[in-house]
Amino acid sequence: MSPEPTAEMRELEDARTRVEELRAEIRYHDHRYHVLQQPEIGDTQYDLMFRELVDLEERFPDLVSPDSPTQRVSGEATVEFTGVQHREPMLSLGNVFNAEELAAWHTRAVRRGERDDLGFVCEPKIDGLAISLIYEDGRFVQGATRGDGFRGEDITVNLRTLRSIPLVLNAPAGTLPRAFEVRGEVYMSKAEFARLNEERRVAGEQLYMNPRNTAAGSLRQLDPRVTASRRLDLFIYQLGWVEGNRPVDSHSGAMAWLAGLGLPTNPLTESFATIDEVARFCETWVERRDALDYGIDGVVIKVDDFATQRVLGIVGREPRWAIAWKFPAEQAVTRLRHIEVSVGRTGVLTPFAALEPVFVGGANVSLATLHNADHIRSLDIRGGDDVIVQRAGDVIPQVVAPVLSRREGREAELVPFEMPATCPVCGADVSHGDDEAAYYCSNRRCPAQLSRGVEHYASRGALDIEGFGEKLAFQMVDLEFIQSLSDIYALPDRREELLAIPRIGAKKLEALFANIEGSKQQPLSRLLVGLTIRHVGTETARALARHFGNMTALQDAALEELQAVNDIGPIVAESVFAFFRDEENAALIERLRDHGVRIDEDTTARGGPLEGLSIVVTGSLERWSRNEVEELITTLGGKVSGAVSKKTSFVVAGEGGGSKRDKAETLGVEILDEAGFLDRLREHGWSAEIAESRT
Ligand code: IVH
Repeated sequence: MSPEPTAEMRELEDARTRVEELRAEIRYHDHRYHVLQQPEIGDTQYDLMFRELVDLEERFPDLVSPDSPTQRVSGEATVEFTGVQHREPMLSLGNVFNAEELAAWHTRAVRRGERDDLGFVCEPKIDGLAISLIYEDGRFVQGATRGDGFRGEDITVNLRTLRSIPLVLNAPAGTLPRAFEVRGEVYMSKAEFARLNEERRVAGEQLYMNPRNTAAGSLRQLDPRVTASRRLDLFIYQLGWVEGNRPVDSHSGAMAWLAGLGLPTNPLTESFATIDEVARFCETWVERRDALDYGIDGVVIKVDDFATQRVLGIVGREPRWAIAWKFPAEQAVTRLRHIEVSVGRTGVLTPFAALEPVFVGGANVSLATLHNADHIRSLDIRGGDDVIVQRAGDVIPQVVAPVLSRREGREAELVPFEMPATCPVCGADVSHGDDEAAYYCSNRRCPAQLSRGVEHYASRGALDIEGFGEKLAFQMVDLEFIQSLSDIYALPDRREELLAIPRIGAKKLEALFANIEGSKQQPLSRLLVGLTIRHVGTETARALARHFGNMTALQDAALEELQAVNDIGPIVAESVFAFFRDEENAALIERLRDHGVRIDEDTTARGGPLEGLSIVVTGSLERWSRNEVEELITTLGGKVSGAVSKKTSFVVAGEGGGSKRDKAETLGVEILDEAGFLDRLREHGWSAEIAESRT
C-alpha cells in the first residue's frame, strides 16, 4: 500500500508539472525568436514566464536541470579550456574566384564522380568561426572549436549561452540517433557588433575591429557570463558523424532534418541542378552581401547526394565535393607614406609599405607588403604615391598599384625606391646575388635575423613553444637574453632576471618554461624546420628526417647522399650540405644537444603498430600526400622503403601505382589499397585521424 502523498509531495509534483510546461513553452518561443526570427509573443509575456520558472526552480532546487533555459549561463570562469579530439577531422574548403574556375572544379568532380547529373546546394559562406556540437539522447553535451581541424577546445559552457543553440532537440523520445554531431559557423551580427562598440565608446574603451575577430574573442572567453553578454549567433551547415544509421541521404535532407529538430540553418540556402545556375547564384551575392546583417565572404557549393560525396572523397584537408566561391578581395586607395625595409630570419630584406591607415576588408590597414624590389620597380611604386591596397580574409594586405592619375603636380614629393646598401637594423653590408631577386643582410648576428629566427623556431610548425611569439622573441633578443637559438633553453635558469622585466609575470613564465621543456621532445623534422636552413620547409624537413632518422646521420651526410633523397633537388641538397658544414651551425647543434633537445634518437616510434614492418607506398593516395603517408608510417614505427623486395611487408598502392605493384604481384607481396591500409591501422586501434594528429 503506498502512503498517502503529503501536502509537500503534492506541491512538489505540481511544481514539477508546471516547470516542465514552462520549459517547453520557453523552448518553443526561444526557437520562434532566435532561430526562425518569428516571435509570437511580446517580451513582457516571455519575461513573465521566465521569471516564474526561475522562482519555481529557486523554491524547488531539486527541479533544476542542466537543460533548463535558466541554466544557459552556468559554471564558473575557468583558467583554460580542455582540448578535444574531433572524431572526424574538420576540413577546410578549396577556393574559386570566378565562373571559369568553378566550371573547372565541376569538370573534375564529374570525372571523378563518374556522373554528370550532380545536384548542388549553395549557401552563404559565413565569416565567423567553425564549431562542432554533439547531441546525445537529444541533449546538447559538448561544443568545441575547430582548432587545427583535428583537435579543438571544449567551449561547451560558452556555446550553451547562445540562445539559438537548443539545449534539448525537438524530437519525440527514441526517434533520434543516440548520438550525433553537427557543425556550423558562429558569428556576431553587424547590429550586435555596432551595439557592443557603442557601449565601449560610451565607456571610453578601445573599439573592436570587426565582427569576426570579436566573435572569436567572445567565444574563447574564460568566463561564460562574458560570452552570454555578447549575443552571438550561428548557422549549422553540416551534419557530422552519426552513431548508427544516418537518417538522411543528402545534404539538403540533413539540413531539413536538423531544422526540424530546432537547429538554426540558413534560410538563404538554395538547390540547383546545373553549374551555370550555381555560378549565376554566386554572382548575385556580390551585390546582395551588404544587405545581410552578418558578414559573408563567399558562397559554399556542395554536392548534395551523400553517396556521391563519398565517391568524390577528400584530398589533403579539402573535400572534393564542396568548394568556396570567394568574393574578390576588397580594395581601397590610400597614401603610401614611405617604403620601409624589414629583415627576415634568413636575412632577406623585404620592402613594405607604411600607409595612411585605411579600413579595408574588415580591418584597419597601415602596413602592406610590396613583395620585393622587382615588384616595386616594375609597377614604379614611389614613396608618397596614392596606392591601391587590397585585403582578403586573413591574407596579408598588399599594395596592388600606384594611382598614376593622382601624381600630377606632386612629382617632386615622390621618392623612388632604392634598396639600401646597408642593413636598416644592424648597418652591415647588403649583398645581392646576381641570379636572385633577393637582397640579404650579410651579418648573421643581425638582431633582426635572430629575433625572427627565434620567433620561427618557437612557431607552431617548428618547435611549437606556445607563448613565445613575435613580441617576446624581440624582447629577449633586444635585452640580450638570447644571442643564439640555443639560449632559449637557458631561459629557465634565469627566472629571477626575467621576473624583473615589466609585464612578465611568474605564472606566465612558468607556463613558458614548461613549453620550452616540452619542445625538446619534438621530432627531428620539427627541429629541422626550426633551424632556418635556406630552402628547407616542412616537406623537405620531413623527407630529411625520414631518410636519415637522426641528426648525426644527417650532419655526416655527403652531398651525393643528400641529392639522392627522394623529393630533394640539387639546390636544396647544396643548401643543407652547406648548413651542416658551417662551424657556427655545428656549434649551435652541439649546444642544443647539451640542453637535451631530442636530436639523436631515431624518430621511428618504438612499439608503434607498424613496428618492424617494411612498407612501400606507390601511386597517389586520396587522403595524404606522399610525404604525409610516409611520415605517418614512420611515426607508427614502420620503415618506408623505396623498392619492393621479398622483405617488403606490404605495399600501399594508390591510384596509378604501376611497376611497383607489378613487382609486388610477382613476388607475392601483399598489396593494400588505401581503404585496406586504413583498416590495418584501425585493427591496431589507430584511426587515421588520431594518427595524423600525432605526426
Ligand atoms: S562547409 C567540408 N558551409 O568556411 C566542408 N563551411 O573555408 C566544411 N564556412 O571551416 C565546410 N560557412 O568554418 C561550410 N555554409 C558553410 C560555411 C562554411 C562558413 C566556413 C567553415 C569552414 C570554412 C572553410
